[in-house]
Amino acid sequence: MTERTLVLVKPDGVQRRLIGEVVSRIERKGLDIVALELRTVPRELAEQHYAEHDGKPFFGDLLEFITSGKVLAAVVEGPRAIAAFRQLAGGTDPVEKATPGTIRGDFGLETQYNLVHGSDSPESAAREIKLWFPNL
Ligand code: PPS
Repeated sequence: MTERTLVLVKPDGVQRRLIGEVVSRIERKGLDIVALELRTVPRELAEQHYAEHDGKPFFGDLLEFITSGKVLAAVVEGPRAIAAFRQLAGGTDPVEKATPGTIRGDFGLETQYNLVHGSDSPESAAREIKLWFPNL
């Protein structure tokens, strides 16, 4: 079943020059990149993107972080693309949850600076893709 998912390389990943690494892993997995853009994230987009986490203790830090530098946004497509990218990313906590061999497991140390985002469900993917790529 072909799906689409929204992938972000967060400001830490861009600053650490890991865009190529992430894109390479997506392509080697066999997924297609159907949209790709490097952009600065306005506060409003960040708030909409992370709306479900409004009220959680880390919400402020999350918004501060995602708006702190350039982000690579991509729409990735393929069979079970949502789960496939989350497998590539590894768990949210790069040390406790992500295993070696995943993006976060190989390159991350702290939950806040976990390098990438991938949509977590078909509903989230549809909402996030519309938000980031309204013309797609
Ligand atoms: S939850 O509460 O289980 O739904 O949260 P989770 O799915 O683990 O994480 C949601 C996003 O918030 C980020 N996050 C954090 N940022 C900063 N500080 C702390 N402590 C923190 N905990 C979680 C996490 O990386 C998720 O971001 P995305 O971009 O969706 O991966």
